[in-house]
Amino acid sequence: MESEWLIKTVAGFLGFVTRREGSKFLQLSDRLDEKAIRLGNELRDDISLYVHIPFCRTLCPFCCFNRYLFNEARARRYFTNLRQEVDLYIQKGFRFSAIYFGGGTPTVLMDELLDFIGFLRKNFDVKRVSLETTPRELNPETIRLLKTAGINRLSIGVQSFDDDLLKAMGRTNTTGEEARVKLLLAQGNFDTVNIDLIFNFPGQSLDKFKEDIATFKDLGIDQATFYPLMPSPHKMTALERKFKKVDTSREKDFYNIILRDVFEAGYRMSTVWCFSRGNRMIDEYIVDYDDYIGVGAGSVSFLKGNFLVNTFSPERYDELISQGRLPILRWRRLSERESLRYYMLTRLFGTTLDSLKFRQRFGGDINSKLGLELAFLRLFGLVQGDQKITVTRKGMYPVSSMMKEFFAALNGLREYCIEKKI
Ligand SMILES: C[S@@+](CC[C@H](N)C(=O)[O-])C[C@H]1O[C@@H](n2cnc3c(N)ncnc32)[C@H](O)[C@@H]1O
Ligand code: SF4
Repeated sequence: MESEWLIKTVAGFLGFVTRREGSKFLQLSDRLDEKAIRLGNELRDDISLYVHIPFCRTLCPFCCFNRYLFNEARARRYFTNLRQEVDLYIQKGFRFSAIYFGGGTPTVLMDELLDFIGFLRKNFDVKRVSLETTPRELNPETIRLLKTAGINRLSIGVQSFDDDLLKAMGRTNTTGEEARVKLLLAQGNFDTVNIDLIFNFPGQSLDKFKEDIATFKDLGIDQATFYPLMPSPHKMTALERKFKKVDTSREKDFYNIILRDVFEAGYRMSTVWCFSRGNRMIDEYIVDYDDYIGVGAGSVSFLKGNFLVNTFSPERYDELISQGRLPILRWRRLSERESLRYYMLTRLFGTTLDSLKFRQRFGGDINSKLGLELAFLRLFGLVQGDQKITVTRKGMYPVSSMMKEFFAALNGLREYCIEKKI
């Protein structure tokens, strides 16, 4: 009991520090230094590409991502612009082999999506592709097309199998039964099928969450990513405004269920939110890759210590691309300390901080460069090991809190950009 209290307190403290550190990502310059997006001579293969498709057929009020109501003409123009944006990176010498499609709902316009994937394959030696969608989008035909397009990891936003909860989430156009049927159609057709489940949603009981996990296991799905509900920046409707704040008092109780029913039941931890049967691809370009380029409206990039923010507005995006410009409107060069802490956070989120890789990247000893941070984590038993510093069972929830707060800080950035029409 005491240790439960201690973990919650430590998690609260680490979350607080992370949010404060993350809020520095909001102090941005609007005068982009072109050097920040120069690749130099090292045409590296380890930069991944994130493609944001910000359209959905209906908008879920709790959603904290940059998304807009689907309109076909607007979406077609958007895909044309995406090709031009990628072209601008190609001209700068960038090459990508791992591609992540997120949204929004990337499958809203299948013909454009498939053309775009074809375009990427023509230009790059694509080795793996991960893509998000919703159960509603899936049918035997879309599954066949996605499989033929070589999607390796299909991630499906289920959120919950409980109809009452889906209703409370504003996802009235789908049911738990539909999700089950669609998942069974998809399972086995891709290297990895992942489902997203949300926890700590208002009105969600611990028992319902246990049932969601049981259904995930019964269906034999490869992987599940559990998202703690995060505040949403949207302010359009009263319902959306309801999600500006989130009650975190029960969050740890939900996480304990993940620990017991998933982690201790033998699923492998890929991140502190993502658990798989065996070795599966994960969706975390921020974990697998030191650097990534994000294309599309509302994407961010992280390149050699530079944090780059694209416009959030599809209209502004259209305008900038039509002028032949990269749609990056804000930029920040991270200090060494910020880069170190960002690195530490993302690696711990992915369960392991490797001292050797750290030395290769930062040219120094991890225990001297991150001495204070590691001493704190070790003091409370949140990490273990020297060469490979891994998150302990006790450390999983505090790391989850840190990541959530980091995302919350990025949501602040979204809110700011949307408000200022950036
Ligand atoms: C960008 S969405 C794309 C998935 C797809 N559009 C769908 O809704 O099924 C990826 C995941 O983010 C999660 N998500 C969205 N808003 C969230 C929030 N406010 N807090 C926590 N997770 C959230 C959901 O689990 C969702 O499946
Ligand atoms: S949760 Fe998915 S479907 Fe709902 S608005 Fe967000 S991106 Fe769109």
